[in-house]
Amino acid sequence: MNLVVVSNRVARGKINEPMTGGLAAALLPVVEKSGAIWVGSSGRVRDGSQKEPFAEVEALGSGALAMLDLPAAHYGGYYEGFANSALWPALHSRADLIRASQQDYASYREVNAFMARALLRFQKPDSIFWIQDYHFLALGAELRDLGVTEPIGFFLHTPWPARAIIEGVPHHRELVEAMLACDLIGFQTEDDCESFLGYLSFDLGLEVDNGIVTSRYGTTRVAVFPIGIDPEKFASQAAKAVSHPDVSRLRRSLNGEKLAIGVDRLDYSKGLINRIEAFDRMWTSEPALHRTVSLLQIATPSRGAIEAYGNLQNELAKLVSDVNGRHGEVDWTPIRYLNKGYSQTVLAGLYRTAQVGVVTPLHDGMNLVAKEYVAAQNPADPGVLVLSKFAGAANQLNTALLVNPHDIDSMARTIATAVSMPLTERRMRWEAMMEKLNAGTIQQWFADFVDALRECQADKAGTQPLMAEPPTLWPLRSVNAQRQRHRRGRAPSQS
Ligand code: F6P
Repeated sequence: MNLVVVSNRVARGKINEPMTGGLAAALLPVVEKSGAIWVGSSGRVRDGSQKEPFAEVEALGSGALAMLDLPAAHYGGYYEGFANSALWPALHSRADLIRASQQDYASYREVNAFMARALLRFQKPDSIFWIQDYHFLALGAELRDLGVTEPIGFFLHTPWPARAIIEGVPHHRELVEAMLACDLIGFQTEDDCESFLGYLSFDLGLEVDNGIVTSRYGTTRVAVFPIGIDPEKFASQAAKAVSHPDVSRLRRSLNGEKLAIGVDRLDYSKGLINRIEAFDRMWTSEPALHRTVSLLQIATPSRGAIEAYGNLQNELAKLVSDVNGRHGEVDWTPIRYLNKGYSQTVLAGLYRTAQVGVVTPLHDGMNLVAKEYVAAQNPADPGVLVLSKFAGAANQLNTALLVNPHDIDSMARTIATAVSMPLTERRMRWEAMMEKLNAGTIQQWFADFVDALRECQADKAGTQPLMAEPPTLWPLRSVNAQRQRHRRGRAPSQS
């Protein structure tokens, strides 16, 4: 098997580099070991006159990393435009923030087509393609148009929203139809999977049987594969990192005071405003917690060229300074607010230093920070995770203190509870969460998806494609019940 993994952002194997993408950081250790070729954007652009896409290829573990320069004329429309101003807000149920122009959509499709052409270079007879995330919803169909018949899988790292929201994305039908060119489509949670299947039935009129849908491309299996981390590796990284200079300096500066930590990309889906408001409410209603607990909020700037992100950054900076102004003292700063990225090693040490981890997104596919915070804890004296029930991770980490991030009063009370939770309860909750993390590692996730993808292809062997010529966009019909296999529609979820 010759696995080709595709994502917009890729990561190089440098442990001390700041990591901004959850997906890229999560994939790195498994891709390195799998011998796969990982193809993504180099972060640079080139003009479109190049015949062959330019790729810088370097070794990555037992495989390789290929970083492509994307077409200059389309990069903005693709990344800041359609991917992050139309799809991202929709996928996170923020229909009010959807901004999409025809040009952006055209650029998104151009970059998907460009990536498909680039991938042909890595195609071998036994290749299988695994596409990651919302940047490449149409890539499976582009590959099929180029004659690729090998297995293609797609995994969505974000949530999949209710039908009414995705219907707000221009060209939503074309895009979802294009996704069905893949043999396997994976989601983080049962809810995401159900919403997607609902869309297929109601909007596309397709028949879904036990998670198998039939379209003009043939059959596609839709299933749940909750992503994990490598808890053992993270735990040992955290234990070592306590002596890292940044971590020791933080510990010394606390003078015995407790610390809550939040680490997020600066993104409206992360619920940062609500979180700061909850801390404000907590210090207001429980003044005894002044000097007892402070918050370290790392908010790594992201997608700064998009208006909604610029507005959030300004709003957040103002709110933090307001809260610090009201609750602070000459020798006490309630919120340390940092706009930069840290390496995984430093983050692991910071998580272990904090008695409370606050992960309170309004919507999140999984949220690996929640899992990393848990794995980083000292087993003898673990911290408490305060987790939004709208993060995919809440399905597995259900012994965290689960909160509704829209309910500021309740979140304030829950954070105060976390600060004073006795050791016995902290340990019980933490041990149960560690069990879940160990049962659903990133290695398991990777292997489960690849196995399921190969199985899909094996199931199809011997069946004929529904149409011989490359598909163009025409209404889909559900046909040929005999081709639908009666199999379980879900991969086992750890919750
Ligand atoms: O949530 C999906 C995801 O791919 C994350 O893994 C990652 O943090 C983010 O979206 C991508 O961010 P960026 O635009 O910085 O690559």
